Amino acid sequence: MNGRFITFEGIDGAGKSTQIAAAVALIAAHGHTVVQTREPGGTPLSEKLRELALHEPMHLETEALVMFAARREHLAARIEPALAAGEWVVCDRFSDATYAYQVGGRGLGADKFAVLENWVHPGRQPDLTFLFDLDPAIAAARIAATRSEGDRFEREQADFFTRVRHAYLERAAACATRFHVLDATRTPQAITAEVENVLKARFFQ
Ligand code: TYD
Repeated sequence: MNGRFITFEGIDGAGKSTQIAAAVALIAAHGHTVVQTREPGGTPLSEKLRELALHEPMHLETEALVMFAARREHLAARIEPALAAGEWVVCDRFSDATYAYQVGGRGLGADKFAVLENWVHPGRQPDLTFLFDLDPAIAAARIAATRSEGDRFEREQADFFTRVRHAYLERAAACATRFHVLDATRTPQAITAEVENVLKARFFQ
């Protein structure tokens, strides 16, 4: 039996990391082998592309192509083999991030995004996507409190993250059965409880 593919999304500073760890622990406790990974990244080549994407200034279409190049490799080398072997894959960001950041944030044409998505993963979407939704001002304050310089995306201004947030919400509305939107202003404990409840309701009943 094929495994499940679960992704976590949200603007920078939304607090995904702790919750990813909790989800992985819960899935493992139900006896499944879980691959925890991230995008851009997840393979040696894709991690090199991540370095470029996060730190090297580039044209917005180059940026989208680098994200999808990293994704193509990640799918071929890691995600698809794991799912085919019955393993579960928990991934920090996937194509919804490209829609939110490159289409929503940067202004890439949605038609170009659709071409790349259909090319790189026709018929493959996550089984479940958690979207951590919060006001960019709160996220920015969290980032300022915990991180030093930040990458090219973290240094963007509030209006960029407002566009990213709205693109995420638009995509969640368009794919309502796949997405679970969380209020990321709540305490980490409350969010963990919600993540666990959703996983149990969808997969472990
Ligand atoms: P992130 O995954 O949040 O890692 P960290 O927590 O270490 O900062 O950072 C990845 C950044 O890349 C994030 O700002 C969003 C951006 N990104 C895109 O712009 N497009 C994409 O397709 C993906 C996967 C990420």
